[in-house]
Amino acid sequence: TNWTRQLRYQPYSDWSIDYQQQLLNRVQNSPYRLNYHIQPDTGLLNDPNGFSYFNHQWHLFYQNYPMGPVHGLKSWHHLISDDLINWRKATPLLPDGNFDSHGAYSGSALPINDRLFLFYTGNVRNSDWKRSPFQNGAWLSQAGTISKISEPLIKQPRHYTDHFRDPMIFKYQDQIMALIGAQDNNKIGKIAVFKADHNNINDWRPLGELTFTSEKLGYMIECPNLIFINHQPVLIFCPQGLTSEVISYQNIYPNMYVVGHSFELNTTTITQPSELTNLDDGFDCYATQAFNAPDGRALAVSWLGLPEIEYPTDKDGWAHCLSLVKELTLHDNQLYQYPVEETKALRQTKQILSLSKQSIIPTTNAYELELEVPANTSQTLHVFSNPSKSNGLVLTIDTTNGKITMDRSNAGVSFGQQYGQIRTTNVQPHHPIHINLFADQSVVELYINHGAKVMSSRLFPTENQNIIWAEIPQKAQLWPLSKVN
Ligand code: FRU
Repeated sequence: TNWTRQLRYQPYSDWSIDYQQQLLNRVQNSPYRLNYHIQPDTGLLNDPNGFSYFNHQWHLFYQNYPMGPVHGLKSWHHLISDDLINWRKATPLLPDGNFDSHGAYSGSALPINDRLFLFYTGNVRNSDWKRSPFQNGAWLSQAGTISKISEPLIKQPRHYTDHFRDPMIFKYQDQIMALIGAQDNNKIGKIAVFKADHNNINDWRPLGELTFTSEKLGYMIECPNLIFINHQPVLIFCPQGLTSEVISYQNIYPNMYVVGHSFELNTTTITQPSELTNLDDGFDCYATQAFNAPDGRALAVSWLGLPEIEYPTDKDGWAHCLSLVKELTLHDNQLYQYPVEETKALRQTKQILSLSKQSIIPTTNAYELELEVPANTSQTLHVFSNPSKSNGLVLTIDTTNGKITMDRSNAGVSFGQQYGQIRTTNVQPHHPIHINLFADQSVVELYINHGAKVMSSRLFPTENQNIIWAEIPQKAQLWPLSKVN
């Protein structure tokens, strides 16, 4: 398909049933389909949206262009779950109105009385392709129907360009607030703060911009989120065009966080902000959405993909997936991320492994691997390896220097090489390093020291890449994980 603009934005109803059926067949035959990660039925998945708990169930939406592996006319694909593991499809939010004609872009959700309020960006283009972003609302009822609020709730303020999107709604001291990602007229990335007057979501008052760093944050900030962990504010956001003098990163765009001491509503300031920190030190993680769940946990889910990069599944008619649902906690002002407790329900019978160069262990490529590398040693693990050991994802765990390296240069089909094939992260030196690796066909999520660091990555193995081995003898345990997709 030649993905012209016209094709990408034509109404879904213009696509023939035949085309859609053929696309579905291609996707279902893709060797890279996942066993337990959220993936699109067809086409492209990007940002998680509207992650919330409503009507005794978890709701999670994602950005979806269903007609092919490209960024086209986006809707909110809707999933519901009782356990954060098994998800079923529900009513989507479709780009079928005057104020979202070119896409129902990213946003968030908040239960208000007996309905779930959806706050999203309506992307509208005129005949000259000039963009107007509208911040729109919709209600999800307990019966599961979605009704849009007919007029936009916030229009583009004069001091911002048309890059004004991704409303994140949250409650702070009983006040309904929202953050919106923005670019000001000097082409600098900002986070705009709004509050709902009298908690009426039809009446948003601008409070100014969020103060949380003295650094210049590039030309745009996408997908801002503010959550609270033990009353401390944690801001998660995606700065675009950040110079790597501020903080080094290798992905095309980074997903970052800042931890503060408190949030001052009057001055819209995060006090005593930490330095900007990479949320994930792997290859593919963006647009993380987090919220404070009513059970007291701070939960997050990430897009495991990046904008503007082609992926090997494109030829199979689909692209990208979501991360596992992660619980966020703070220890000594450092953010920890770890798959929610519910993830253990995927575990099958535990296997005790003695890894080494000689004993190569075949797997189903859907497992959790747990091990600990002793202090002041260095281990190299090969996962998704082929029997001849020429291919695989290579993890080097150097506990002397507290340095973990993920090398995907021979992990299978290459992609995104211009952004480098190696990622590195650091933890305390001279200590054992604990590893939990979640593997799923074409994804790995590597959790280091119980979530102090995370490295998430896609990889696209070729034939017979299903073996684990280690360069020096190493005890480990492995749980095959169930297929829920
Ligand atoms: C981030 C993003 C958002 C936007 C959405 C459109 O990946 O660009 O800023 O709302 O994707 O799909």
